[in-house]
Amino acid sequence: MKKTILFHPDPRLKTTCAPVINITGDLRKMADDMLETMYDAPGIGLAAPQIGVLQRLIVMDCVKEEDADPAPVIMFNPEITASSQESEIYEEGCLSIPDHYAEVTRPKEVEVKWIDIEGVEQRQGFDGLWSTCVQHEIDHLNGKLFIDYIGVMKRQLITRKMQKLKRELARKKED
Ligand code: NI
Repeated sequence: MKKTILFHPDPRLKTTCAPVINITGDLRKMADDMLETMYDAPGIGLAAPQIGVLQRLIVMDCVKEEDADPAPVIMFNPEITASSQESEIYEEGCLSIPDHYAEVTRPKEVEVKWIDIEGVEQRQGFDGLWSTCVQHEIDHLNGKLFIDYIGVMKRQLITRKMQKLKRELARKKED
């Protein structure tokens, strides 16, 4: 089932999420719902706090080619275990901050450890768009957004525009 994506500013997007202790049926269902919500948006990554669930769960699929098979990845308790010295700049966006983009500098490659949907520990290196995406999504679990990396002026401007958008959406709901 498709979920509603929270928009910045929202205190739930600024919260450090709790580790997942048991991968229950409910959490597996949640992961499926998150993938459905992400593909529908459309986006390449989604973190549980973005749908108001304050647990350490992210989903991603950074396959861009139209005719390629989907490659959904579900990660519980993802953790960066190593980062490259070399960094890379990507123009990032976020489903919780629609229509706003900014260049963010991050390590070019990272190694990530996580628990998969079967409860098995996985470890893998990521580069390119996958690397940017996994770092961006793990940030969400620590209450951090991509706009926290940019200058204060641009961040305030985006936040004001998002507040205005949220007021307009709330007003529409009332009508
Ligand atoms: Ni995001």
